[in-house]
Amino acid sequence: MCGIIAYIGNRPCRDILIEGLKRLEYRGYDSAGVAITCTGGDGSTRICKTVGRVADLEAKLDADEPKLDGTLGLAHTRWATHGAVTDPNTHPHTDDTGTICLVHNGIIENYQSLKKLLEEKGRVFRTETDTEVLATLISELYDPDHGMDLEAAVQAALREVTGAYAIAAISSKDPDTLVVARKGSPLIVGIGNGEYIVASDGSAIISHTSRAMTLDDYSVVRLSRDGLRTSTIDNVELSPKVMQLEIELGEIELGGFEHYMRKEIFEQPRALRRTMSGRLDMNEGCVVLGGLQTHAKELVRSRRVIICGQGTALNAGMIGEYLFEDLAKLPTEVEYASELRYRNPLIEEGTVVIAVSQSGETADTLAALHEVMDRGALGLGVINVVGSTISRDTDAGVYLRVGPEIGVASTKAFTGQVTVLTMMALFLARRRMMSGTEVTAFMRELERVPDHIEKTLEQDDAIRTLTEKYIHRENWLFLGRGYNYPTAMEGALKLKEISYIHAEGMPAAEMKHGPIALIDDGMPVVFIATQGAQYDKVVSNIEEVRSRGGHVIAVATEGDEDIRRLAEDVIYIPPCPEPLSPLVAVVPLQLIAYHAAVLRDKDVDKPRNLAKSVTVE
Ligand code: AGP
Ligand code: GLU
Repeated sequence: MCGIIAYIGNRPCRDILIEGLKRLEYRGYDSAGVAITCTGGDGSTRICKTVGRVADLEAKLDADEPKLDGTLGLAHTRWATHGAVTDPNTHPHTDDTGTICLVHNGIIENYQSLKKLLEEKGRVFRTETDTEVLATLISELYDPDHGMDLEAAVQAALREVTGAYAIAAISSKDPDTLVVARKGSPLIVGIGNGEYIVASDGSAIISHTSRAMTLDDYSVVRLSRDGLRTSTIDNVELSPKVMQLEIELGEIELGGFEHYMRKEIFEQPRALRRTMSGRLDMNEGCVVLGGLQTHAKELVRSRRVIICGQGTALNAGMIGEYLFEDLAKLPTEVEYASELRYRNPLIEEGTVVIAVSQSGETADTLAALHEVMDRGALGLGVINVVGSTISRDTDAGVYLRVGPEIGVASTKAFTGQVTVLTMMALFLARRRMMSGTEVTAFMRELERVPDHIEKTLEQDDAIRTLTEKYIHRENWLFLGRGYNYPTAMEGALKLKEISYIHAEGMPAAEMKHGPIALIDDGMPVVFIATQGAQYDKVVSNIEEVRSRGGHVIAVATEGDEDIRRLAEDVIYIPPCPEPLSPLVAVVPLQLIAYHAAVLRDKDVDKPRNLAKSVTVE
């Protein structure tokens, strides 16, 4: 959560910072601010910040005289953790002498004790943030005349800090240095021609350079116009790890769509074709996953799989549980990473932990992964963002390849995660008990999924009309069984997070154990009622809802005419094997959520209180 961008070089950086903030705004959008060391004049650092969106900051900057610009600066878009959403709490923060200027993503857990110590030394605080405490601590240690330059002061301050951080700091006494550091929160350094652009993710860098340096936890980078130095917080010099950013500009632009979420829903067929490309070997009847190859033997011998994630990633993981048990016959459990981490899990030999995460930065997922890997499990990642922390901390993994996902509501990453988990299950199944012919037959069906999604997307208008009918209802239920129980969970999560309508997803059978009491006249109840082993049972659940006045919206398989008799509304999807049906059945649910949010005039891509990547526990 929160976006950081910082620049040092020879170009005026104001527009670079604002453009970067716009790209990063999906990460947090409570308030935004910028600090620039001004060229000309007295060379001082000036700050402009405001509650609201980056557009509000831009307007404020436009009104500012004299114009704020220079060749060294930093900026931030906030997702508040400590202190209300107010102008004073907005980043950048300075210490009480105005020397150190800092932007920060994360939480300084021991900020209260540090604040007390600093207050005893006479330092004064003007905000409620943990970030101001860190700025003050750096300033307290900063003594450039006695060898404690900005880099050394940042290192020393970070040695005192517990928690998570990505920071960028400048000093009013040193117009040639930018110091950045990270632990737990993401940060990368884009390497341009005589300039560096530091950002929370590659989307804010790619229009300037595709060369970027990744940072490990506890590393500090000092950047100047002449070069960079990387070290640990204990000042042990490190060699920079440079990678190529594989983002295309078109992927992070709206390209004619009204919202990123809509663009990403409609991108799914193409994205999933890319996820599968080169990975389905029809001749050999096997799935080729380069990332897993070196661990293939260990995986085949594994005895238990634990899948963890949060939110949408967890819902995808739940489908993974069915797939691994069903296809690869491997005992599998799925758990919220946040719970797995703290429940002292018993990890026996032969355990594999799979962390599912779009961003690869989710703090809960990362912590659970470390916990389970430390107990001896092999750690795998199902990640979208290349080079992200989880992808680097796992033993092996498979990337989603669905391209950057910018809408806060996850859509193409969900179908990408389910597709990868399907391929992983087949990768193992082929080495355990499925024959090449069986795997090939299954892969042929998997290959057709993007076509099925395309066909489903053609019903967009009808789904909008249907959603309009129920738009004033405040409570929805989403029900499914087997493979489509997680689909129901995902449908409910999508609806609540962007339209603020209360929705619950659950196994269809669970409804009668309590939630059935909620059903009143006209309550919309979405059933995933595709053909499969439990179809008849789902139909019985539909009858139960109807007899209590609920309005049934069924997602059903093409050709199922009987369902029309039971449901007020039917959305048909093409027939496909049951294990693949969530990949298609989720699409109408994504569209229902999207249209509900638009019809209710909500900010689809930036729902209230949320942020794209949750890097705090
Ligand atoms: C999904 O729509 C959500 N915004 C959220 O639940 C998300 O899936 C969750 O925070 C996990 O994120 P990750 O995939 O980046 O780890
Ligand atoms: N903890 C800091 C704050 O509340 C940083 C939050 C963020 O990551 O945006 O200001």
